[in-house]
Amino acid sequence: MPGRLGLQGFALAAFLLSFAAPAVAVEKDMTAKGEVLVKENCARCHAIGKEGDSPHEDAPPFRTLSSKYPVGDLAESLAEGIVSGHPDMPIFAFNAHDVEAIIQYLESIQDSPSPR
Ligand code: HEC
Repeated sequence: MPGRLGLQGFALAAFLLSFAAPAVAVEKDMTAKGEVLVKENCARCHAIGKEGDSPHEDAPPFRTLSSKYPVGDLAESLAEGIVSGHPDMPIFAFNAHDVEAIIQYLESIQDSPSPR
């Protein structure tokens, strides 16, 4: 039945489009979302803003991270739940969308641009 196939193709296209569209609308709010995520998960130890000291004396303020490595390099660690070997820090595992948001937020507060 050719009619049935055509309908399925249409349904598939509509299905795929329904994924593509919201992603663009959400993009603008990524930095804000990242800020909320680090506030909830990291702020009790790390300074997360453009100034201030970290509540945990060993935890580097987030705005200084880019002096050591490109902030984007953290994406993999955040997704896999391994953020270096520091015992005090709990293990986090964020989904890809949250990771993207956190990275964008971190990029937005760095003192200096990430090294190449
Ligand atoms: C319970 C306290 C605590 C929480 C919560 C915490 N951290 Fe940390 N974090 C630390 C400490 C302490 C260090 C430094 C330890 C060290 O140098 O080994 C650190 C270091 C880091 C570093 C630097 C690693 C490096 O190798 O330079 C990054 C990046 C980091 N944390 C990201 C995060 C993120 C993102 C979150 C939230 C999702 C978070 N941390 C939540 C305590 C914490």
